[in-house]
Formats: sequence, structure tokens, C-alpha cells
Amino acid sequence: MPDISDLSGPWWRTAAIYEVYVRSFADGNGDGVGDLIGLRERLPHLRDLGVDAVWLTPFFRSPMVDGGYDVSDYRDVDPSFGTLADFDAMLAAAHDLGLRVIIDVVPNHTSSAHAWFTQALQDLPGGPARARYHFRPATADGTPPNDWESVFGGPAWTQAPDGEWYLHLFDPAQPDLNWDSADVRVEFEGVLRFWLDRGVDGFRIDVAHGMVKAAGYPAAGLTGQIGLLGRRVLPYFDQDGVHEIHKAWRKILDSYPGQRMAVAEAWASTPQRLAQYTAPDELHQAFNFEFLQADWDDPAAVRASIDSCIHAAEPVGAPTTWVLSNHDVRRHATRLGSLERANAAALLMLALPGSVYLYQGEELGLPEVLDLPAQARQDPVWFRSGGSDPGRDGCRVPLPWQAGAPAFGFSATGESWLPQPPEWAALAADRSSTVELYRAALSLRRSLTGALRWHESAPGVLDFTRDGLRCVVNLSGGPVALPEGPGSEVVLASRPIDGGTLPADTTVWIFARTVSTS
Ligand code: BGC
Repeated sequence: MPDISDLSGPWWRTAAIYEVYVRSFADGNGDGVGDLIGLRERLPHLRDLGVDAVWLTPFFRSPMVDGGYDVSDYRDVDPSFGTLADFDAMLAAAHDLGLRVIIDVVPNHTSSAHAWFTQALQDLPGGPARARYHFRPATADGTPPNDWESVFGGPAWTQAPDGEWYLHLFDPAQPDLNWDSADVRVEFEGVLRFWLDRGVDGFRIDVAHGMVKAAGYPAAGLTGQIGLLGRRVLPYFDQDGVHEIHKAWRKILDSYPGQRMAVAEAWASTPQRLAQYTAPDELHQAFNFEFLQADWDDPAAVRASIDSCIHAAEPVGAPTTWVLSNHDVRRHATRLGSLERANAAALLMLALPGSVYLYQGEELGLPEVLDLPAQARQDPVWFRSGGSDPGRDGCRVPLPWQAGAPAFGFSATGESWLPQPPEWAALAADRSSTVELYRAALSLRRSLTGALRWHESAPGVLDFTRDGLRCVVNLSGGPVALPEGPGSEVVLASRPIDGGTLPADTTVWIFARTVSTS
């Protein structure tokens, strides 16, 4: 069995990876949409923050029905984000700054504007162009072929003009590919090579658990038992067949020099099933959403989620990954109830063994924007739920860089595809105090290599050591005494502390020995 406590080795095992939601990071041409030139100009912020890599959400050609997760050409940059030359220049600049770049790949579905889907609609039922997608015959009573539901709400089937049904686990503009088709497998291997040849350091694989559907399209109701993570076992997610695809992709990654890697966005019903995605011959990492979903009003549950994630990864020898926010969930400064608690959570996460994923703007303490006007919203979740679910636009509002500048420095013209709240002036990168906390933690974190060892602690307090670092998190709701002893010097606190008391919703790092901060 590989030794999980040995965290030395490839860069990604301990990396801090920063998610850039390209549309909302920085706008280089003033049209109100973030782009690759804007990203290149702002890369020094990420170098100074101290992250190892960036993950870019899709910037490929797309009608943008789902913010670019509806790709119409996997080998080109959407004009709203720039050109392939802009991508190459951005990648070279990132590498010059010592930042690696991983990019999204979206293999579960294409855009309905993809040439393949256009051909499929023009093809006859049963024809070869339809075989690249999941088409089912027209039904006599006009009801969908089965009870599968779209993740965005409503049925997962839509009728083509000739009455056949096609499958879309997300929006109707995102038809699911049929991974039994050799065309599909060959095409995506080519797409991976296209970007690896350009020099990307790896991929984030969108819906990595979704590409294979159960044979015969069985009703979800029949297999809808509940898994350990409280997730239903569904005939279109986490089917055993996806592992064959990931093994083939691993071989491609390994055939390139320079430690190329892949991280799966995978949802599985048990931690053990999730760990299969990171077997030594599969992907390097999988996102761990259990920590993100932990109930912070229940400190024991937070601790249990940490233990369960570490233990699930042990048998396959993969590093754990930690994430608190991303472009799909409510920002944790809002979700956890306060900026104090958000920063306490971040300092806890940054002390954990493995790799961390940060979402743009969390280093500024940005909250979710809850009051976007209906006419500004763009998320298909909002439209498909008839406005009952606000969707994910609130975590995608363009970043504030500079307090007094137009669009807070996001774009020189003041344009912004979603409106920024005026109060973000106080959180702009040039004002934020949270950014200093992240910088210090990311720097100190580089010294940490060891496994986590819990200490006995008062109720509501999480207390552990890694190497010389002791991390104490007070989720008890009231003040607690700090550990005492020689060398117990607080080197970092998620908010100012006074004397030997740790206020509620506060994390401190205490170093029992001197560590390098370089
Ligand atoms: C992405 C979402 C997207 C969905 C469909 C998810 O995993 O993170 O933003 O809407 O896949 O591609």
C-alpha cells in the first residue's frame, strides 16, 4: 500500500490551485467579459498570492448557454475570450511566473451548436451521426423515454424535430455524448493531445462520473437507492464503465513529459467509489465535496468529513483535495454565515494535508451576490427552475481589483457582464485584508509535509498538528483558552486575537518550532 503520509513528490500532490472563472476574472478589451488578455495581465496577483497553479474554466468556442460548459469547438478559443494566440501568450506568461495551468475539458456533452449535433439532427433515426449522442425513438404517447431528470431541472430528454428524443443531463443545449461511440473516444483523445501539445499542465474533467450510462436506459426510480454520501445511485452517474475512459486518458497524460495531471469533478455515492477515480492508473485527483458540504454548525461533522476524506484516499495513495468554494456553489463567506467563519475555515483548509483548490475572489473575502436583478441573470438553472432557484450567477460576479476604478478595475470601460455591488469597493484587491491572510498561509503552508494528528480538545474545538504546525479552530460558539506551553507562538490568526483567548469562529496556527516562510 502506498504511504499516504509521504506527501513529497509530484507538484500536484500538495499544490494550491486557483480556479479562474475566465468570464469574471479580468477583462482586457473592455467589453465587460473577462478574457485571456485580462487574465495574463493579472497573473502577477496569483504569483504574489502564492498559488502553484491556475485552473481555467472553459474558454472554448461556445454559445454560452451554460457559461462555456456548452462547447461547440474544443480546439478553439471563443472570440469573447480572445484567440489561440492569446491563450499561448497567457500560458507562456504563467509558466514564466512559475504558475502551472490546468484547463477544463467537457466530455459528457457538447453544445447543441457543435457540428456533430447539427449533423445528428440532419441524420435519419438510427444513422451514424445520431450514434454519437443518445437518441431514442419517438414514443407513441409523446412522453420521454424514461424518468431521468436534468441536473438543471425538468426531464433529461428533449424531442428533435422528427420526434426522436435526445438525452441531456444538463440543459437541452448540452446534448450528452455517447461514449460507446468510437468517434467520441478518438475525438477526445485528440482534444487532450491538442492542448497538451500547446503545453497545458493538466485538465479538470467536467462531470467525470457521467460519461457512461447504464445499458438499456433503466428507469432511475428502480435504482434510486441512497448512497453513503446521501446521494442517489443513478443509472447515469458513476457507472463502472467510466474508469476505462479515465485509464486511457491517464496513459495519454503519462506519455507527455513534465508531470501532466488531471482532476476529476466526480460525484460518487461512497468515499470508496470516489477513490476509484484516483487509483494509480487513473486520474491524479478528484474533488472532495464532502468537506465543502460539511455542516459548520456541527464541528464534529467537520472533523468527521476531514477524517473520512483522508481515509478514503489512503488505499489508492492519492492526495486528498480540499475546496470551500467554486463557480457552482454559494460562496463560503455567505454559506458559512460570516467572513470571520469563512476565514477560519480557509485557515483550517490550508493546514490540511493534500492539495487545495481556491476559487477566485475568496482571497478577497467576497460574499455571494444575492440580489442580482432578474434581467441580469444568465444561469440556465434560473431559467429552468422558472426563477425559483437563483442558480449560480451570484458567485460569478466579476472581481473587484481596485476600489476607485471603473468596474473596480475589472474592465477599463466600467462594463461588467453582471453588476458588481457598490460595497465591493471595500473588498477590492487593493483594500482587502483577507488577501494578506491567504498570502501568509499559502507561504507557511509550503513547509508542511507531514500527516495530521488530532489532539484532544474542548467541545466544538478542532485541534491538530502537522509537523511543527498546530492548528486550532474554535467552532464552539464562545471564547476558549489557547493552548499554552513553550514555543506556543501564534504565527497566524484568521482575525486579530488578544492574549491567550481564542474567540469563536477563529483559527490560529501555532508553530512549535521555527519554519521557513519562503
Ligand atoms: C460544471 C458546471 C456545469 C456542469 C455542466 C459542472 O460540473 O462545474 O458549471 O454547469 O458541469 O457542464
